[in-house]
Amino acid sequence: MFRRGKSVVGLDLGSQVVKAVEITLEGPEPVITGFARVEIPPGGDKAAAVAEAWKRGKFRARSVVTSVAGQSVVVRYLQMPKMSESELRQAIRLEADRYVPFELAECVLDCQPLARRAVRAGEATKDETMPVVLVACRQQAIDEQVALVQGQNLQPLAIDVDSFAIANAWELCGLSDEAAAALEGSGEERAIALVDVGASRTQINVLVGGETCFSREIAIGGADMTQAVARRLGLENFDAESHKRAGEEAEADIARAIQPVLEDLSNELSLSLDYVENHEGVRVEEVLLSGGGSLAPGLVAQVEQATGRTTRAWNPLEGLRVAAERVDVEELENWAPTLVVALGLAARVRAA
Ligand SMILES: Nc1ncnc2c1ncn2[C@@H]1O[C@H](COP(=O)(O)OP(=O)(O)OP(=O)(O)O)[C@@H](O)[C@H]1O
Ligand SMILES: [Mg+2]
Repeated sequence: MFRRGKSVVGLDLGSQVVKAVEITLEGPEPVITGFARVEIPPGGDKAAAVAEAWKRGKFRARSVVTSVAGQSVVVRYLQMPKMSESELRQAIRLEADRYVPFELAECVLDCQPLARRAVRAGEATKDETMPVVLVACRQQAIDEQVALVQGQNLQPLAIDVDSFAIANAWELCGLSDEAAAALEGSGEERAIALVDVGASRTQINVLVGGETCFSREIAIGGADMTQAVARRLGLENFDAESHKRAGEEAEADIARAIQPVLEDLSNELSLSLDYVENHEGVRVEEVLLSGGGSLAPGLVAQVEQATGRTTRAWNPLEGLRVAAERVDVEELENWAPTLVVALGLAARVRAA
């Protein structure tokens, strides 16, 4: 009767900040039962940050789900002849060469058929093919991550991709059901863009009825904003970082300094969203921003203006229960927008 539910820690090994969130299943309900956030000091290493996170987080679980991102990973959306999932896994090895810029012998492949077929204007739908998402990751990046996790006496349960973790967080929050419901009867396919602005990069995932139809990584993030502040105000990066976060007192200066970065990022986003709409025949109705970089003053407004789409900050804790006796709720709430990837990783507890 008092059997403890399954617990998993989503461990987001960001380039600047390690975030760890534990989710425990209480019956069918996911509950946040642990949380830690540790900044990696300049020149510091991730393993030490993970060790520190475990000291602070009071986690029950030793099973962790981590993720990869950046240049070690490619994600491609392609059409394959209709076949079963096991046949697809065989066939994709032969196809992958055309889509993957790495030596296949040195990378790990994964793929999944998608349910939704793009409806492009003027194009007949081809019934004999099916859309597939293909992910390839350099083996070395995976080995390094497994070594890091095992080096801390933790057990790697799965390794995900940042851009898909964001989509899993969205599903965890129960929002995809709502989105799917909204779709019904609307005649037009409505999509939503999840955008996580990290320190070194920004992840985009566009969902239709809860399923991905496009993802991309943009090499712009909070670190570029910090550098812009450092240059404009003549500061070292470290001082520019705290200046940037201090908000009010220097807001006008900061806003001016980071404006070009916000514009570059918003323009890239805008291009991506236009591309999805043209290629997938959907309408991207809303942009949801997360990640530490999204805390920069003016970003939400800038993205809304540049993309012409309703844009808002996303708090992924809405609708999730938190075990207040185990977690510093105020700290958790403060950093909520930065925890989307970690939450999406921990969401795998349901399959554990
Ligand atoms: N209050 C704030 N205002 C502006 N920027 C902030 C604020 N707080 C944190 N940041 C920025 O957020 C970034 C860190 O965010 P996050 O934890 O999402 O990155 P990360 O996951 O380590 O990076 P990446 O995903 O690129 O590997 C840093 O660039 C930091 O300067
Ligand atoms: Mg990140």
